[in-house]
Amino acid sequence: MDKYSEFYNLLDEKTRLFKDIPKEKNIRVISHLDSDGICAASIITKALIRENRPHSVSIVSQLKENIIQELSNEKYDVFIFTDLGSGQIELIDKYLKDKTIFILDHHEINDAIIDNEKIHHINPHLFKINGSKEISGSGVVYLFAEKINDENKDLSHIPIIGAIGDNQENEGFEFLNNQILSTAIANKKINVEKGLKFFGLETKPLYKVLSNCTEPVIPGISGDDQKTIDFLESIDISPFIGNKARKFFNLTADEKEKLISALIIKRNNEENPEDILGNLYLIEGESDGMPTKDAREFSTLLNACGRLNRSSLGIGACLNNHNMKKKAIESLKDYKREIMNSINWYDRNKKDTDKIITGDNYIILKPKDQILETLIGTLTSIVSRNKKITPNTFIMSLAELEDGNMKVSIRIANCDNDTIDVNGIVKEITDFLGGESGGHKMAAGAIIDPELEDDFIAKAINIFETKYPKEIIINEIDD
Ligand code: C5P
Ligand code: ZN
Repeated sequence: MDKYSEFYNLLDEKTRLFKDIPKEKNIRVISHLDSDGICAASIITKALIRENRPHSVSIVSQLKENIIQELSNEKYDVFIFTDLGSGQIELIDKYLKDKTIFILDHHEINDAIIDNEKIHHINPHLFKINGSKEISGSGVVYLFAEKINDENKDLSHIPIIGAIGDNQENEGFEFLNNQILSTAIANKKINVEKGLKFFGLETKPLYKVLSNCTEPVIPGISGDDQKTIDFLESIDISPFIGNKARKFFNLTADEKEKLISALIIKRNNEENPEDILGNLYLIEGESDGMPTKDAREFSTLLNACGRLNRSSLGIGACLNNHNMKKKAIESLKDYKREIMNSINWYDRNKKDTDKIITGDNYIILKPKDQILETLIGTLTSIVSRNKKITPNTFIMSLAELEDGNMKVSIRIANCDNDTIDVNGIVKEITDFLGGESGGHKMAAGAIIDPELEDDFIAKAINIFETKYPKEIIINEIDD
């Protein structure tokens, strides 16, 4: 039997066990704060509503030991952990001994593999399926929900939004995500079109989308509003109607085609001029020009809700609650402001060696309490996508949390080396120094005692320099 059949068999077995749970049992759902986690929470919520099962949902940024301990005092017999839990299974086993537990996750399994009549663990890594690339947490929850009730196929677009949020789309999806995508297409939930893969195409003025776009670059117009406006006029596409800037979806089919050809011609000297084209995942039933139309923008919307501690709006948006979706969309501007604050912090302090330590193959950010604590991972990811930073440079942030702990986030800049495992790095450090860690090969984090900050940094630098030395990971940090 291949690994996928084994995974599907496990899902079959676990959904059967789930269905045997008496209907009156109140169920506690805990999910992760990011876009994938909110997608996962939305799917399980809807599935439980359909089964008439009473439940309550919480979203957490990290499943810390004290949270699990608190859960043990709650009067629930059944717990479902979604998009988290696999890294904390020993703690779950320790504190929630007499409970029935379902863990539906795709994070690396750092602890012992526990699966018994009380703890039901569903994770693709159990079958050596790559949970970082092939399926998201919401994907695992979706497959579970689909087996509980075929009607849940109407949720099949949600795990695509979650997978995009977890960076699992790269010129298409890998196997399990692709199967979910096929279900979403067959059920008329998503429409895949080849089109311009510029972020904000649905919602921003066309000239802004083009001038803001640096990845891929459009020579002569990237970064320059006026030149972009001149370019559009030169190909007979009016950037404005009256005072109002046009958006991509306002263009006629002919204009869209003309624009794409002209952009490809402008990129003639680039390695792959057609790199401006990619798959667009458009959610059926959503209106053009809304941030809920393109799955990529939808994912950002959910992240915004989560990071601003308004996760319930994200769940409402996924489940098509008109009012909540509206409020979620309104939250985007607050999110953008917070992101800008964190990017400005980075730009302002690049030269301040107390705040940003730069080595041959690493950059360490220490924002303390200067940026919103839920955005520490996001800032680390944004820095890691900066094309000016040499590929495979480690980007690590350590910041203070309101509860007195210290949060660590780690990523790899422009990674092109799949032997690097940042989850392994943080685990090695927390095993040695103490603290809780978890994540994926490409994105991981930890919670530590702030007194360990210097030791953590010293140990991390040691690992960066000895395990991943310059010869393997080219350096030269280009500012
Ligand atoms: O918080 P951050 O975005 O840096 O986390 C990166 C990944 O590592 C996320 O998927 C998160 O769930 C995981 N993580 C974890 N345990 C921690 C910290 C982060 O599983 N203590
Ligand atoms: Zn996830």
